[in-house]
Amino acid sequence: MNPLLAKADWMNRDDIRPYVFVRPENQIAQPGSVHRNDWFTQSPVFKNPLDVKELAFADRIYSLEERAFGPSNMAMPRWVFYDCAVMPGFVAGFAARPSALSKAAREALDPKKFPASLSPIKSSGVLKEVESLDDMDWIPLSLFIIIPTMHKGEWVAHNLCSVNSLLPKEEQFYGLGFLSKAFGLWYANVEQCSGMTQWGSPALKLHSHYGHLEVIGAYAPVHSHAKTITYRVQVNTQCWEKFFNKEPDLAFLENYGPTGTFIDPKQEVSMLNFQQRIERGEGPFYLSAGEIAQKKLDEQLMIYSLKQQY
Ligand SMILES: CC(C)(COP(=O)(O)OP(=O)(O)OC[C@H]1O[C@@H](n2cnc3c(N)ncnc32)[C@H](O)[C@@H]1OP(=O)(O)O)[C@@H](O)C(=O)NCCC(=O)NCCS
Repeated sequence: MNPLLAKADWMNRDDIRPYVFVRPENQIAQPGSVHRNDWFTQSPVFKNPLDVKELAFADRIYSLEERAFGPSNMAMPRWVFYDCAVMPGFVAGFAARPSALSKAAREALDPKKFPASLSPIKSSGVLKEVESLDDMDWIPLSLFIIIPTMHKGEWVAHNLCSVNSLLPKEEQFYGLGFLSKAFGLWYANVEQCSGMTQWGSPALKLHSHYGHLEVIGAYAPVHSHAKTITYRVQVNTQCWEKFFNKEPDLAFLENYGPTGTFIDPKQEVSMLNFQQRIERGEGPFYLSAGEIAQKKLDEQLMIYSLKQQY
C-alpha cells in the first residue's frame, strides 16, 4: 500500500473493497487510465443496480444516505437515485464483508434497526426481505455519485456520504469519504469535476483536495439551500496527497494570491457579495484547501485569485 495511506489501514484488507454500482451500459471503458495513481489496487466489487437481487445493497445505501442527509432535509428520494444517478451516471464507494464489521458498524448498518424508510420491500408481496447483514455478500460503507454533464469532460459530483458520520471516532474508517470520491474520480477518468455543498459543511475539507477549488457560485437561491457553494476543480492527484500528508500546496501558493477579502459561512450577506463579484466577472476565485483543513467549519475563509502572469 502507498505509505501515504498509512492512516487508512483498512484499505489493506481483503474484506473491504471498492464497489461500482453501475448499469452495464455506463461501465467505464478503460478505468483508471487518465490519472496517475497507485492507491486502488484491489479489483472492485461490481453490482448492477437494475438487478432486483441487488435491492438489499441499494437499500443499505439509502439507509446510510437518509441518516447523513435527513437532518438537512436533503435525503435522496428513491426516484432521484434511479432517474438522476443510476440511469445517467456512476455510483461507487467502498463495501465490506459482514465479517469485517465491528459491533458498532454492524449496528449502524443493521437492516432491521435502520430499514430504508421508503423501500417497497415492506409492502411488496413478491420481494424477499433481508433479515440480517449476514445474508448479504457485501455491505456498502460509503456512497459517491457522479453524473456526466453536457459540457464535455465535466462531471457533477451529486452525492457523497460515509458511515463514519454514524460511528464513534475510534470505530471510524479514516479517509473513507475522501477515498470514496478519489476512487470514483480515478476509476471513471474524471478530469473536471464540479459540485455543490453547503457553506460550513465538513465536506468542504474533502472537496477542496481533489484539485484547486474554483468557486463558480457562492450563493444559490435556486437550490433548496441558498447557502450553497458551487465549485469546480481540474482533478489533480498531487492535491489528493496533501489530504493525508498535510503538506503545503506550493503550486497553489505559486499560482494564486489572497484578495484580502473573506467569505464568512455565518453571514448570508458575505455569500451574496461574493456571488455578485463572480457575476460581475471579477473572478476566477479560489479557496485554499490547506486553509480549510486548518480552520473550524464556521470560520471565515480567504478568497484567492490568480496571480498576475508575466
Ligand atoms: C462529510 C463526510 C462525507 C466526510 O466523510 P468521512 O468519511 O467522515 O471523512 P474522512 O474520514 O474521509 O475524512 C476525515 C477528515 O475530515 C474531517 N471531518 C470529517 N467529518 C468532520 C466533521 N463533522 N467536522 C469536522 N471535520 C470533519 C476529519 O476531521 C478529518 O480531517 P483530518 O485529517 O484533518 O483529521 C461524512 O462525514 C458524511 O457522510 N457526512 C454527512 C453527509 C454530508 O455532509 N455529505 C457531504 C455533502 S456534499
